[in-house]
Amino acid sequence: MGTIRRPLVAGNWKMNGGLEGAAALARDIAAGSSDLPCDLLVCPPAVYLNVVAGALADAGVALGGQDCHGDEGGAHTGDISAGMLADCGCGFVIVGHSERRADHGEDDAKVRLKATAAHRAGLTALICVGETGAERDAGRAQEVVASQLGGSLPDTTGSANTVIAYEPVWAIGTGRTPTPQEVQAIHHRMRALVSQSHGAAFGDQVRLLYGGSVNPGNATALMALADVDGALVGGASLKASDFLAIANNTGHFKNK
Ligand code: 13P
Repeated sequence: MGTIRRPLVAGNWKMNGGLEGAAALARDIAAGSSDLPCDLLVCPPAVYLNVVAGALADAGVALGGQDCHGDEGGAHTGDISAGMLADCGCGFVIVGHSERRADHGEDDAKVRLKATAAHRAGLTALICVGETGAERDAGRAQEVVASQLGGSLPDTTGSANTVIAYEPVWAIGTGRTPTPQEVQAIHHRMRALVSQSHGAAFGDQVRLLYGGSVNPGNATALMALADVDGALVGGASLKASDFLAIANNTGHFKNK
């Protein structure tokens, strides 16, 4: 029997909402967060971290940033360090999201530096990978994901400080997802690859999340897959009832 990996359902709020909405959403999530069969994480816009931390209070919901700089500090106007996120109560930070890769030209080397910075600050790095639609159409999905994994995971990577999310770019915000069979195939391959690169124990223990148009309707089938250990949710994480419904759909993981 393999390791039992407790699922993680993470909400990436991206650049959405305002101050009052962020506080209300956090309060609603906190109110529904007891007795869930998974860990819960919310990643609000950085400027709302403090208010969300306050609204989450002692609910046991983890807090994360959506990005951090690779350096500990210095002349980087507009950037935020991993240590600053930790100061605000974060335990996690997303790095390498495809929107950062596309909007800010972040490549694997940069993502690796950011993950290293997260580890240095005591944060868990939620490292994102995933192919574009064109790469998928060219039959290159596995190759692209393998290459991103190889370039983005630092030497400091361990199962206690790293979560990996597979987010096919073409599935983000589109309502389209790969089939469950396709998701399982790529997650299985990812687990094999990181077992080779970072050891069998890491491969066995690391949580692999699926992200891209996850909603309460498709979560059950996706979360049931053997190598899927939770979800990274965008749009549906902005509605507490949908986010919590997805979290409740991970129940069968208890016995995996
Ligand atoms: P959607 O759930 O809106 O497709 O976004 C997924 C995502 O990018 C989460 O990081």
